[in-house]
Amino acid sequence: MASVLLTRRIPSSVLSRLEQAHEVDVHYGDAGLARDELLRRAADKAAIITVFTDRIDAEFLDVASRLRVVANVGVGYDHIDVAAAKARGVAVTNTPDVLTEATAELTWALILAIARRVAEGDRLIRAGRWKGWAPDFMIGTELRGKQLGIVGAGRIGRAVAAKAPAFGMTVAFAARGKGPREPGTLSFDELLVTSDVVSIHAPLTPDTRHLIDRKALVRMKRSALLVNTSRGPLVDEDALAWALGERLIAGAALDVFEREPEVHSALLTMENVVLVPHVGSATRETRTAMADLAVSNVLAVLAGKSPLTPV
Ligand code: DGY
Repeated sequence: MASVLLTRRIPSSVLSRLEQAHEVDVHYGDAGLARDELLRRAADKAAIITVFTDRIDAEFLDVASRLRVVANVGVGYDHIDVAAAKARGVAVTNTPDVLTEATAELTWALILAIARRVAEGDRLIRAGRWKGWAPDFMIGTELRGKQLGIVGAGRIGRAVAAKAPAFGMTVAFAARGKGPREPGTLSFDELLVTSDVVSIHAPLTPDTRHLIDRKALVRMKRSALLVNTSRGPLVDEDALAWALGERLIAGAALDVFEREPEVHSALLTMENVVLVPHVGSATRETRTAMADLAVSNVLAVLAGKSPLTPV
């Protein structure tokens, strides 16, 4: 029997699978563990089930010297120093696939919400400001015939693209890196210039931080909408607030932010921005499947087997 730290609670049906095999220390609070508490509780553990709000760096790995596996509940692993873990013989796993559909569905919810001013209309009614129907009131943008530009042609980007024909949209993917272009892809610049909706699905790396900056935003159509369900720091929020303020793009819909749970104060005041609190994978089915996969990864590694979904 080994000892496992869970930095967040998981569904009890999933937890019991782990408890049958190992000793489990669960943090039940809504907020994540403070750094010193995280280090203290990880010190004697063989496995940690973690989320993107925990920083798993070299310092953490030195303190948690008995660790055999870091099992992330989530697909993005920019909070984990994978090289440092590998150097110490610690396996790192994530939860791909199981959250693809939920995140793609939220992306479409955001595309539709910003194109048809759903959140703005809701706010207007609740504030008692609706004076009645008028022919030119709350005019939005139709999606049919428009181009959806996908930055990041991974599982989620492709799942978002797969739903585009249902709305009559064409899809363009941004080519990766500077090498030879795959057929059907546009350069990043061409994608920005020609797309009506730009949706970000790339991982956060040193290369993608502030991918959407002032330079990128000025290349977009004035009528374009920007959607981000990947990681906040891919978009320079100062630049986005500036571009929206200058009417260089028409709107933005964001699930993720540069300094969560803080949101850029200018974005909070803009009607043409839809904001949701990092809920891309937040369906009952998906969160249960994510926890289940993380537990399976821990059980496999602690049993001396290969993890199911190694990073
Ligand atoms: C992920 O999977 O990386 C999400 O952001 C966490 O829900």
